[in-house]
Amino acid sequence: MKGVITAGGEGTRLRPITYATNKHLLPVYDRPMVYYPIETLVAAGIDDIMIVTGGNNAGDFLRILGNGEQFGLKHLNYTYQAGSGGIAAALSLAEHFADGEKICVILGDTIIEGNINKAVADFRARDEGATIFVKEVDDPKRFGVATVDGDKVVKIVEKPKKPETNLAVIGIYLYDHKVFDIIRGLEPSGRGELEITDVNNAYIELGQMEYRVLNGWWTDAGTFESLLRAGNQVAETGAVRGDLST
Ligand code: G1P
Repeated sequence: MKGVITAGGEGTRLRPITYATNKHLLPVYDRPMVYYPIETLVAAGIDDIMIVTGGNNAGDFLRILGNGEQFGLKHLNYTYQAGSGGIAAALSLAEHFADGEKICVILGDTIIEGNINKAVADFRARDEGATIFVKEVDDPKRFGVATVDGDKVVKIVEKPKKPETNLAVIGIYLYDHKVFDIIRGLEPSGRGELEITDVNNAYIELGQMEYRVLNGWWTDAGTFESLLRAGNQVAETGAVRGDLST
């Protein structure tokens, strides 16, 4: 299984800081933001990783991450997304890298207290399909929101005005090789992007989507409020802890 981290975009919600650098290189407590998703993958035993970056200052990823020695890696792969076509468009650039294997995709601003080691081990053993991770939140309107029925995901709505549940879909996704064919069939959403939520709904329609409720806290870090919260939470408890597996 391979790992893909999406770390492009313009970071418009963090301007003016993101005029000077890529959002995913900003500090979250004592490390650059992109360190956390890399640590999540490495903890789950995924050591073949591609970073999809974009926008300005993409070259700074090389200076900060190099070949990933600080994570115990021998090598890191990079690719570049021109413009902002959405998360699914960024992911499509990793098709050649994935080369038919299963992938774990993490949005570059996803920071978790625990780890996804159990879910990744279970997914390795599964024949096909996809897995999402959900977490109860106070402000579901900011996220993709899942409706579930027992162990089935019924649907996901992206940033609903009237959320049916408070189960946010966090930015970690496990996919089989079909994901790239699914992306090829997508139409841009109202905001002109290829949405990761549409990819997930396609797996739901195939009857191949499973979900896990994440242990420990999760935060994104794409707004000033969530960036501050992320730094404080990491300072208080640490992140990617081994004792909190999902
Ligand atoms: C993205 C996804 C959304 C998901 C969120 C998690 O939203 O589109 O479904 O819940 O990440 O952080 P964005 O933050 O890019 O608007």
